[in-house]
Amino acid sequence: MAVALAPSILSADFARLGEAVHEVEAAGADRLHLDVMDGHFVPNLTFGPLVVRALRPRTRLPLYAHLMVEFPERLLPAFAEAGADAILVHVEACPHLQRVVAQARELGCRAGVVLNPATPLLLVEEILPEVDEVLLMTVNPGWGGQSFLPGSMDKITRLRGLLDARGLARVDLAVDGGIDERTAPQVVRAGATVLVAGAAVFAAADGPAAALCRLRLAAGR
Ligand code: DX5
Ligand code: ZN
Repeated sequence: MAVALAPSILSADFARLGEAVHEVEAAGADRLHLDVMDGHFVPNLTFGPLVVRALRPRTRLPLYAHLMVEFPERLLPAFAEAGADAILVHVEACPHLQRVVAQARELGCRAGVVLNPATPLLLVEEILPEVDEVLLMTVNPGWGGQSFLPGSMDKITRLRGLLDARGLARVDLAVDGGIDERTAPQVVRAGATVLVAGAAVFAAADGPAAALCRLRLAAGR
């Protein structure tokens, strides 16, 4: 199965964000992962639709907005309008998840649901046929550069089994947090189809292009 690489700009140099994005696009990134944090759902604070709007004309890569925010439904229209191609919302932030997924679709975006490491797969079972992607956090969200939680491996395997058993192999299985050359082969073997990587790409000593190339090799594509 093909594996998509999604660099997360969280570890990029924000003083030269456009160039950083250009580098990973030229190096064959498949999509761009944008980590939006509100200082409430997670303790950290990053950026909002403004950055999506600024990047939109600078890249052809699909822009995936990972909303680590409370009340994501309030922000969806602004992100869609700014040019996000996909919206990823946390199950933990959405008591009315089906409504938020439908809202993202109505706004013309792909829709994905995200689970924190301690959140059971059970909470997305009913919504699976309605989503384009399930993203499993493999660290607790909030910062880049954390270590992959080994307990995630079994969860990836179980989600892969669930998707295949229900004829939903078209749904992307993404992993986010601590993905590098060492963990990439393991998560791909377990069934991941999208690898989000921040520090492994943008904090690499030899630069993002070389890092992406090594990650692609490690992922086996
Ligand atoms: C964590 C973010 C991730 C993060 C991944 O809260 O959701 O997307 O950027 O960063 P690395 O790859 O450095 O763990
Ligand atoms: Zn993320």
